Amino acid sequence: MPQQSTEILAATAGGIARAAQLLREGRLVSFPTETVYGLGADARQGEAVAAIYEAKGRPSFNPLIAHVHSAEAARRYVQWNDVAEQLAAAFWPGPLTLVLPLREGHGISPLVTAGLDTLGIRVPAHPTGQALLRELDGPVAAPSANPSGKISPTTAAHVIAGLDGRIAAILDDGACGVGLESTIIGLAGSEVMLLRPGGLAAEEIETVLGRKLVQRDVHDPLTAPGQLLSHYAPGAPVRLNAEAPGEGELFLGFGPVECDLNLSESGDLAEAAANLFGHLHRLDALGKPIAVAPVPEHGLGEAINDRLHRAAAPRD
Ligand code: TXA
Ligand code: MG
Repeated sequence: MPQQSTEILAATAGGIARAAQLLREGRLVSFPTETVYGLGADARQGEAVAAIYEAKGRPSFNPLIAHVHSAEAARRYVQWNDVAEQLAAAFWPGPLTLVLPLREGHGISPLVTAGLDTLGIRVPAHPTGQALLRELDGPVAAPSANPSGKISPTTAAHVIAGLDGRIAAILDDGACGVGLESTIIGLAGSEVMLLRPGGLAAEEIETVLGRKLVQRDVHDPLTAPGQLLSHYAPGAPVRLNAEAPGEGELFLGFGPVECDLNLSESGDLAEAAANLFGHLHRLDALGKPIAVAPVPEHGLGEAINDRLHRAAAPRD
């Protein structure tokens, strides 16, 4: 990816305004939360979210957490329920992420949710992170601001060491207090499930709810950390590396080919990543088998192909 000169922004009104402006322009900004520094992009802009994966060198698309300034803001994007209300009242702002069903008209890029119909959302407590989210007044998708496979950053210096020249700016406000990622609670099903232990102790959550959390099955590879309870997969069969569609197949193209939908006519991998899940959903809705053109295996192509392989994997 092209080198850029990374701005170091102070946690002042001017620095926060600049950070919000860069996010609006679809650029990447690292910002402090009370857990770790996040690598933020406007969650409504697919290509900006794709750039997160490019900057991190992450070889697969996992769903990302959307950060908002308040529970009121969260309700713009997800279907709220009583348990969410109870947990938000007790622990937001704070190191707690809730996974809830998306609501209609949410506007979140499908690359944030990796094509799922649920969203992980949280309200961070860090005053500078909060101020940035208020200034933008929009959802910010952010994993930890480290290159893939490296440890999570708890200071701006860690972020610079890993991502200098790969992101537009870092909003620097010293060290993070918690130093451990947020606890993730799944509220989209009938149970209240601990999806990832983190900075908020499960016991505290159980005390507020007055009941035990359901534990995910650690022996089930699909619920391993960083993995998903369910991966989005189209209902129709998917055939990869197709030069052309076969009889009765829909064709998902890449580059200058004739097709039903094109991931990127110009062969741009960030554009293709941003379109991936939305296009699969649209073709899937037509109820026919899907053939997919070859996508080069470099840069973001690796993560795109990883997801395409999952979509094409044999299933019951
Ligand atoms: O403390 C934190 O949570 C940090 C700071 C920056 O806020 N963020 C963070 O993001 O740890 P990340 O991308 O490393 O964690 C995302 C994880 C996914 O790997 C997945 O386990 C879970 O959150 N997740 C997100 N959305 C989900 C969804 N819709 N369903 C299930 N799990 C989800
Ligand atoms: Mg991480």
